[in-house]
Amino acid sequence: MSSAEMYNGLKVLSSYHRKGGVGKTFLASTIAYLLATGGPDGTGKKRRVLVLDYDSQQDSSKAFLQMDAIPGDDEYAAPTHPDYKEINDPDWPGRNTSTDILFDSPVYEYPTAFEGIKVLPSEGNVDRVLALTPQSERLVSTITSHMKDWFSIPDLAEDYDIIIVDNPPSKSPVSAGLLGAATHVIIPTEPEYDSIDGVPMLLNRIDRINEDRTDNPLEVLGVIPNKVQSKSKLTQKDRIALSKLYDKNGPTAAYMSQFWLTQRNCYRVMERPSVDESHFNYVHNHYAIDEMTKLYQLVENKIWGGK
Ligand SMILES: Nc1ncnc2c1ncn2[C@@H]1O[C@H](COP(=O)(O)OP(=O)(O)OP(=O)(O)O)[C@@H](O)[C@H]1O
Ligand SMILES: [Mg+2]
Repeated sequence: MSSAEMYNGLKVLSSYHRKGGVGKTFLASTIAYLLATGGPDGTGKKRRVLVLDYDSQQDSSKAFLQMDAIPGDDEYAAPTHPDYKEINDPDWPGRNTSTDILFDSPVYEYPTAFEGIKVLPSEGNVDRVLALTPQSERLVSTITSHMKDWFSIPDLAEDYDIIIVDNPPSKSPVSAGLLGAATHVIIPTEPEYDSIDGVPMLLNRIDRINEDRTDNPLEVLGVIPNKVQSKSKLTQKDRIALSKLYDKNGPTAAYMSQFWLTQRNCYRVMERPSVDESHFNYVHNHYAIDEMTKLYQLVENKIWGGK
């Protein structure tokens, strides 16, 4: 099977890093918007996107859906599906999360304010996955095989061009399991020690996944330095961190993107969540548009090769 045939041509992109706060959610939701709208200038192919949120903080769910606050809880519940009344499914309670996929429960993706983007929100606490198997060492492979089965459903490739997965931080079996089922991965990293130190380990994990996937290897779109200070504010420490990543003799250079994402106020959208078009205004921001265009082109070209 070639990678083009895996999941009937449907692509699965994972935004991945073990460290928290590096920009996994920012990249996942930005890429979803860029692909669905044909890039910052809107002239590219408009892709049909499904966002799967597995992050317990539910940030990308909140970027796309009006989640239901649970009184007395700091988590949100998935809202009632707008088509609940029309979809006549006795096994479906009218709301669902990305974790329901793993339990073979019925899942109906939620529409968003954007025509080309649907979402399955995160259920917050993801501990329910521990019930999947009593053997904890098998949890990762159990999740991988569940997700591979789901991504292989032919209807899914008819409805979507790409599924974008937002991962929880840490060594969660959920993110490891999902990575094993992805076709592509993108790795945001901050230019500071903890974050860059994890990158070679991630690349190692990907090599190990690919030992079993010789016909359809998991492809790294790139490692993207994120939250990089503008040139005038770049500290000596940042410079050293970045030069380590781009060191030609090091393990990461071959995967590094040719551009950075700068630390910008307009990108701090999670601090002001909204579920309409204005959430993504930053993509068209005069100062940001150059790096947004490069991000869009990287993803489009590496996944579809300009087709
Ligand atoms: N380039 C940037 N400039 C400014 N703020 C940014 C940038 N990238 C991300 N942020 C902000 O930093 C915070 C953390 O980013 P984000 O939530 O995407 O990270 P994460 O890796 O998903 O974190 P977690 O591991 O907690 O899920 C968010 O408030 C986000 O809006
Ligand atoms: Mg996140």
